[in-house]
Amino acid sequence: MEIKEAKTIEQDTNPPLGERGSGGIKRYLITAALPYANGLKHIGHLAGAYLPADIYVRYLRAQKRDVVFVCGSDEHGTAIPIQAAKEGTTARAIIDKYHPIIKQNFDDLGISFDIYHRTSEPIHHETSQEFFTYLNDRGELEVMESDQYYDEEAKTFLADRYIKGTCPNCGYENAFGDQCERCGTTLSPDMLINPVSMLSGNIPVKKATKHWYLPLNKHEDWLREWILEEHKNDWRPTVIGQCKSWIDGGLQPRAVTRDLDWGIKVPLPDAEGKVLYVWFDAPIGYISATKQWALDNNKDWKPYWYDKDTKLVHFVGKDNIVFHCIIFPVMLKLHGNIVPANVPANEFMNLEGDKMSTSRNWKLEMQDYIDDFIKKENGGTIMADMLRYYLTAISPETKDSEFTWKGFQDAGNNELSSIFGNFVNRAFVMMHKLCNGKVPPFHKEIQDELDRNLITDIKNAKEKIESLIEQYKFREAQFEVMDLARKGNQYLQKREPWKKLKVENNVIVPMVDDAKRIVDNTLHLCLQLTANLAILINPFLPFTAKKMLHMMKVVDRMLDWENAGKIDLLKVGYTLRPPELLFRKIEDTEIAYQVEKLKSGLVKDDANAPIPVAPSHLLEKAAETPLKPEIQYDDFAKLDLRVGKIVSAEKVEKADKLLKLQIDLGFETRTVVSGIAMHFKPEGIVGKQVVVVANLAPRKMRGIESNGMILMAEDANGKLHFINPESDINAGAGVS
Ligand code: MF3
Ligand code: ZN
Repeated sequence: MEIKEAKTIEQDTNPPLGERGSGGIKRYLITAALPYANGLKHIGHLAGAYLPADIYVRYLRAQKRDVVFVCGSDEHGTAIPIQAAKEGTTARAIIDKYHPIIKQNFDDLGISFDIYHRTSEPIHHETSQEFFTYLNDRGELEVMESDQYYDEEAKTFLADRYIKGTCPNCGYENAFGDQCERCGTTLSPDMLINPVSMLSGNIPVKKATKHWYLPLNKHEDWLREWILEEHKNDWRPTVIGQCKSWIDGGLQPRAVTRDLDWGIKVPLPDAEGKVLYVWFDAPIGYISATKQWALDNNKDWKPYWYDKDTKLVHFVGKDNIVFHCIIFPVMLKLHGNIVPANVPANEFMNLEGDKMSTSRNWKLEMQDYIDDFIKKENGGTIMADMLRYYLTAISPETKDSEFTWKGFQDAGNNELSSIFGNFVNRAFVMMHKLCNGKVPPFHKEIQDELDRNLITDIKNAKEKIESLIEQYKFREAQFEVMDLARKGNQYLQKREPWKKLKVENNVIVPMVDDAKRIVDNTLHLCLQLTANLAILINPFLPFTAKKMLHMMKVVDRMLDWENAGKIDLLKVGYTLRPPELLFRKIEDTEIAYQVEKLKSGLVKDDANAPIPVAPSHLLEKAAETPLKPEIQYDDFAKLDLRVGKIVSAEKVEKADKLLKLQIDLGFETRTVVSGIAMHFKPEGIVGKQVVVVANLAPRKMRGIESNGMILMAEDANGKLHFINPESDINAGAGVS
């Protein structure tokens, strides 16, 4: 039977720390950026905002502070209907599809939100409209008419992601109208070079339209003072830097409405066909989520958003900095709310030498990791923590960092398993072997320098780690926990209890003088250290901490932060369970498979082709490429299309996109150079039948004469498919 708790853990009689002051802070409201529910999220997102936020929150909870951790789906903006068009469905269907998956992914990885809300909920629509009305009624918004990009064919204004072009900052040719996915810069359609409509591929025209603006320019003085003075030392330099360049660049009024049909209606009679800008409503989502959480838990939400003694912290990625440091704070201030105490934004995490990108399919989705690693294990927790560990170890807190599968393997095997896992395992195994599975006593009379040093290390670790976490330095904080485990290993190595006592015929036999007392002391301290490691690792690796509690047969309360640094956590004589496997070895084959999977999934990044999509009101007409001008039968009859068979294929040197194909047309074999190298491996397509434009004038590509062209179909994800006969037919057969 399970013994419920170790008696050595004192009763919890202290009031929550929050109430005891802690610098006048009574409660914490922690937010993590609401992810767009337009697709699966990758580990760059996880490492950017959700994991650091979770570490911070778990630490605060262990401190018994009053803390609420809110997040949820961002379900408006152009990103949603664009995805709907790609998938040939409605915006509503998209958010209903992705919201629950993303929510579950976070849960599987131990991200412990108090609420994971949705901006499509009525409570959010009301909250956002009230917010807008409050500002508008007080004259804090300006109405202006201006010329905006318009697609004459689709008959729509091209807000945000309905337009793309070249990023003025980094030259990326596929930048959205609101943001460059490559460098993270926040953009507006007017900043794009060579703008193109996403709806038709046409070059847009300008047309006048009326919008409501938040006059950021009026708030420059206090923003400058608040960010660049008050917070110059406690906000990250990267965050301060971005804010400074925005402010120094001169703040402009920012439109908070859009001409769109997907979003929250502007609550005014003269705003037909207009919705709130997604970046206006989404951060208000933090407030509506708090309201819903309060309703569900019988709490009052107001102090969290109005009391000065609430500490509000926004965890975001670097592409969200301006919204959380400038725009939303202005909204909050005008609305009478508190402003954030900090916005610890992370830089980007790259993957295997390249920027993570959804459109190029260069990413590791949380779902994929869960399918490949977590679903396969029993209990599903070791691998969640092994990912958390690596992501924190390479957290892009000060600069961009790089996820590699080899790095993941090394961190897991050479740090987590061989330092932390190994220490805990050795302490438990030896205690079972040499101390009858019980916590041995500590004989103070023989304690020496080595013991005293370890005790000091245990005591110091708490303060170090807590100060690092409070400065949002999670990477270093986790390193300190590992360092303490490393010290435990060194201590064991110096003491060598296995050379002091041995087991012969089931009897423990001393090998040196005073062996029993030395071994007792060694293992006593190692076990107290293990208990400390559980407390200290808990914010980072919660599943591991839980497992350690089980091994030590103690209740959750032992993980209270105030217990860290104590060396009497486990009572002498208390029976502990046998060790459990905390981590597992990551095999070469596993990472080789992942690298291969990543590389084979790469989708071409064709900068010039817009992805033709329909706005949601045109959805009935399906998401199809606009038709080219009409032709006559004679035009068509000029084409000579033939079935051919690929007999060989090879890469064209120094041309990533090209394959040189030999195609059997029955009457002859042709050389055709085709731009499909990013999609197919040469060896994979030999033997395939294709349709060839056989009378196309020859053309030189990279010095090779290409005699014809093969027909390919491109799906909504930009993937290419061969067009070929249903079953093998004779090469040279005509197609008409
Ligand atoms: N959906 C946005 C993104 O993925 C983040 C919104 S954060 C919020 O970049 F504050 F607006 F909620
Ligand atoms: Zn860019």
